[in-house]
Amino acid sequence: MSEIAITQTLGQNSDSNKIENLPKITSFLLPKEYELLPNASELFELEFAFYEYKFLLKSEIIERGAFFKTVDGIPTQHYIICSNNNPLVWKGRSEVTKSYFKEGNFSTGYATHGLFPYRGKFHPQLIKGILNILKVKPGDTILDPMCGSGTLNVEAAIIGIDSIGIEKSPFCTLMSKVKYESLKVFTEQLSRVETEINENYKILMSKKTLPDNFKLDDRFNVEKSITLLAFLDAMGYARRCSKGIDILFPTVLKRYIAQIDSFVHARDKLNLKIGKARFEIADARNLPLGNKKVDAIVTSPPYSFAIDYVDNDRPQLEYLGYDTSKLRDEMIGLKGKTKKEKLANYFNDMNMVLSEMSRVLNIGKYAVIIIGSNDIQTGGIRLETKVEEMALENEFVLDQKIVKPIKGIQNTMRDEYILFFRKV
Ligand SMILES: C[S@@+](CC[C@H](N)C(=O)[O-])C[C@H]1O[C@@H](n2cnc3c(N)ncnc32)[C@H](O)[C@@H]1O
Repeated sequence: MSEIAITQTLGQNSDSNKIENLPKITSFLLPKEYELLPNASELFELEFAFYEYKFLLKSEIIERGAFFKTVDGIPTQHYIICSNNNPLVWKGRSEVTKSYFKEGNFSTGYATHGLFPYRGKFHPQLIKGILNILKVKPGDTILDPMCGSGTLNVEAAIIGIDSIGIEKSPFCTLMSKVKYESLKVFTEQLSRVETEINENYKILMSKKTLPDNFKLDDRFNVEKSITLLAFLDAMGYARRCSKGIDILFPTVLKRYIAQIDSFVHARDKLNLKIGKARFEIADARNLPLGNKKVDAIVTSPPYSFAIDYVDNDRPQLEYLGYDTSKLRDEMIGLKGKTKKEKLANYFNDMNMVLSEMSRVLNIGKYAVIIIGSNDIQTGGIRLETKVEEMALENEFVLDQKIVKPIKGIQNTMRDEYILFFRKV
């Protein structure tokens, strides 16, 4: 397009130069029948909204779009799911917390993502946007080989896609299972969880480690697991504030029940078909999967040693009866004494993970890696650049790179990179 044509398109030298007529930037990106969600204003969000508009039919945006409020005046399912919050979810929280969560209503705080605030978890709305760009569809199987709290699996399930979550930490696997299985509960089950709060509290407090009747065998009991996760959440919370676990546990559990109940109502109203998910405690460097078994991978590895995942979850892991020193040796990013040694181990491990990802992925399909660099910790090495180099050595090509800023003044990382690698 010539410069004159662009100027004309943008309306320069016309009435739109007047303040009262200034056009919204989104009017150049999207036709007026597409209404964005109220919080979609950052550049990466507009980028994702534009891709959804380009890649999906109107009916698909209504069913699985992550950045739109309405299309042709019809509310999207994402908007309905996020707007359905039970007032109990906010009860007893400070104004600051309330406004933080309300702001994140459409991006992080919906469905079962709010159960247990796992550090370093994905931004759920972004994951839905990625799944839309990848055009994954029911019948596909997608994988997160370091699934943490199971954000990918929850997002996939909500749009009816099957997934696998692999994770080394058994506490994370429990958390992921609870978040996923809670998507499928019935209101009567939630009522039972509520009636049994006091009785279960006594049982959970009766020992220093997990009592036998809470041990989860092959038959996953969702009611007990929701209760147990709330207990473990309250246990961590009690260490950070002045209140005791006896006060915190019922509050946290009631909030969990309210959050799940909000989703369950939206699920039934929208008649959602929840995709299947399975989780396994295993090592991303040695995946328990056959060759070419998955149709997409979306994952976020530890950002070198930015977070000590074992130390972070130590009270919960110990209560569940796991040996944390053994686990530490198997976790990516935690091995080594000096910074140099830690980085060398990290890159070695990441190379193994990329090789495994390449092995289990079908040719022509995508592995999306979300990663950020903490320059201070890495001595200036950019992890995204290293991962790019390693991916190229493992039969991947980089098709797209999107930058997402990280909010919050306490963060020493400014951006995360969303790298779209295609298996060749
Ligand atoms: C950035 S977090 C992932 C968070 C996740 N995307 C979510 O939404 O919760 C990285 C995860 O890698 C896991 N991890 C570390 N070493 C691993 C290994 N060898 N195999 C599998 N998972 C590992 C950590 O326990 C941690 O949960």
